[in-house]
Amino acid sequence: PDSPRINPSILAADFVNMQAELARIATADFVHVDVMDNHFVPNLTFGPQMVERIQATSPIPLDVHLMISDPDRWAPGYAELGAASVTFHLEAATEPVALARRLRSIGARAGVAIKPGTAGEELYDIMGEFDQILVMTVEPGFGGQGFMPATMPKLRALRDEAARRGSDVWLQVDGGISDATIEQAARAGADTFVAGSAVYGADDVEAAVTRLRELAGK
Ligand code: DX5
Ligand code: ZN
Repeated sequence: PDSPRINPSILAADFVNMQAELARIATADFVHVDVMDNHFVPNLTFGPQMVERIQATSPIPLDVHLMISDPDRWAPGYAELGAASVTFHLEAATEPVALARRLRSIGARAGVAIKPGTAGEELYDIMGEFDQILVMTVEPGFGGQGFMPATMPKLRALRDEAARRGSDVWLQVDGGISDATIEQAARAGADTFVAGSAVYGADDVEAAVTRLRELAGK
């Protein structure tokens, strides 16, 4: 398999120093960009204008995580500005399959995210429409929360189901990923790891990315 992907979340970065903060994670695989709308989640970050500047500034491709209502309307715009992947929440989408096809037709990887309370089975029959599945390991909305081990059986079941279907879909985890938790997520089948505070909270950001990648590969 590919080596594990580490996607630092700039939710934990200094928003008014974004160019330098992006440069610090140049050895990571993707930059994870959390878009929140104060409606789907009780927090607000930024929208397409800011993401377009991040796209123009980032040394690595963008992994956009939309925690917004009505992604059917808004997600294609993030693909059009050049994001490598665009992930929307299953709970928020009206027509997830049509939306995934639209994202792919624009040239982005299509991603679907599920909250801790959403069953993985809801994705079994449609996983072929997606390039990546994001299993949230915290309730979406804020960085710095504790990893929820109760989500691991769902991740493992999705990994097994993907294998049964011969799917090469990426399985991503997001929330509370750190040196202390990344190995259990990797063992449960994750191959792509979002980490906010564990990366930007480290004294040596580059070393933190390298160490997380090593731990995930064990
Ligand atoms: C939370 C966001 C995460 C967040 C993770 O809703 O989707 O991407 O930045 O932050 P940490 O790694 O600190 O839990
Ligand atoms: Zn996220």
